[in-house]
Amino acid sequence: MATILIINGPNLNLLGTREPYLYGHDTLQQLNSKVVALAQSLGHEGVTFQSNSEAALIDRIHQSQDDADFIIFNPAAFTHTSIALRDALIAVNKPFVEVHLSNIYRREVFRQSSYFSDIAVGTLAGLGTKGYLLAVRYAHYYLTKQEGASYHYGPAQNPQAH
Ligand code: DQA
Repeated sequence: MATILIINGPNLNLLGTREPYLYGHDTLQQLNSKVVALAQSLGHEGVTFQSNSEAALIDRIHQSQDDADFIIFNPAAFTHTSIALRDALIAVNKPFVEVHLSNIYRREVFRQSSYFSDIAVGTLAGLGTKGYLLAVRYAHYYLTKQEGASYHYGPAQNPQAH
């Protein structure tokens, strides 16, 4: 049994009431329980973490070195700002999928760049809460080394300069 760690960044604790036209009506608790239930049904453990603090997110990523096999990460606004979180993911060298509820590429220009996409196994954006569920299914393919997923890797060793 593998452990999939689902990390949500700042303001995502307000899901359900925060700009629902962009982020949907599910609360974070509802989202987390769907994600954990799916991970369990696929034979894995789903562990969730949310913080509004960059330092706490960095610490949780460091801890993943010992307690997670795969990360699903919505860095929220830190997507567009945090070299420190990027460095933390490169340091622990865990495979991760970057998820965004909204399609950041059809929003403001400042949201259209990510410090994570080029070091992620892949990115899902604009699929709402379904993006997290698809990421769990992908994590399962990856962790069970199914054809079509097994060639992937952890964070890129020589990511392109931003
Ligand atoms: C987000 C997109 C970010 O630009 C924004 O700051 C968020 C949420 C998303 O899930 O669509 O907080 O990551």
